[in-house]
Amino acid sequence: MSPFPITRLRRLRASAALRDLVRETEISARDLIYPLFIAEGANVQQEISAMPGQYRWSVDRLPREIEQIAALKIPAVLLFGVLEPASKDQTGSASWDDHGVVQNAIRAIKRVAPELVVITDVCLCEYTSHGHCGIVKDGRVPNDPTLELLARQAVSHARAGADIVAPSDMMDGRVAAIRATLDRDGFADTPILAYAAKFASGFYGPFREAAASTPQFGDRRAYQMDPANAREALREIELDIAEGADLIMVKPALAYLDLIAKARAHFDLPLVAYNVSGEYSMVKAASANGWIDEQRIVIEILTAIKRAGADLIITYHAPEFAKAMSQ
Ligand code: PBG
Repeated sequence: MSPFPITRLRRLRASAALRDLVRETEISARDLIYPLFIAEGANVQQEISAMPGQYRWSVDRLPREIEQIAALKIPAVLLFGVLEPASKDQTGSASWDDHGVVQNAIRAIKRVAPELVVITDVCLCEYTSHGHCGIVKDGRVPNDPTLELLARQAVSHARAGADIVAPSDMMDGRVAAIRATLDRDGFADTPILAYAAKFASGFYGPFREAAASTPQFGDRRAYQMDPANAREALREIELDIAEGADLIMVKPALAYLDLIAKARAHFDLPLVAYNVSGEYSMVKAASANGWIDEQRIVIEILTAIKRAGADLIITYHAPEFAKAMSQ
């Protein structure tokens, strides 16, 4: 590169048209996946207090919301079940009920927007009375007995019409267990999006209010990853790919952009990043205080996650971003 004054990088920044011409990363609604919380009961549209603009929806209230999401050209949604305490038990058995909230939601969504890709979160924490992502024995979460329950849940989602199942529990071997069970039960074509590198993160705080999934004792550090570990994240991803993952995920996104970049460099599978609840709530809180320009910050955040290497971003900002872009 010839140094200054031959090279002047400001030449290509001089006008909006020039900047548009040389922009390296473009974010659009097409890159986004929108999470939805599905509640029991009827006529529920309840705002999540820590996540302004996000709601728990009962299945009967979904069609209008789904029509809007589809009209905004958001290509995919990610479903979470939210249960009343009385519907939960030690094993999270409501999660593989073929008429459970998520299963009913999948069918309702497919009726109004058959083209919308429906991804389901596969985990036990939203369905267990103790709030852990696996079964509990002697105050611990044993790995292997949990696998069968996760696989049962994944098959039930596939049977209801889920396009992709996404295990988020962080048990070892869950991708292989789910793949084998899906194949055995006639769902060989259902892809798995593995929450491959999922960290034990404080950024999930608002989600746990939304999904009522806070562990009743202890925390998730014995199964989710230590935020300090980057090499281990690559091993997690490698194992999930070996077990049959079709897409991989890094979660959370913003404090882990280095891992998104590393995953992009190491692996060729579609790479998803989860811009999680805490990341959303911080933006909303700062914006409500008038401290930041929300729209500008959201574009910058989503662009940065894509620039780091993510192909797709799961984000609660999706509808507002898509609306702003279409104006
Ligand atoms: C379930 C699950 C969680 C999130 C996605 N799936 C919570 C957790 O692991 O505690 C977090 C999503 C978010 O914070 O937006 N295991």
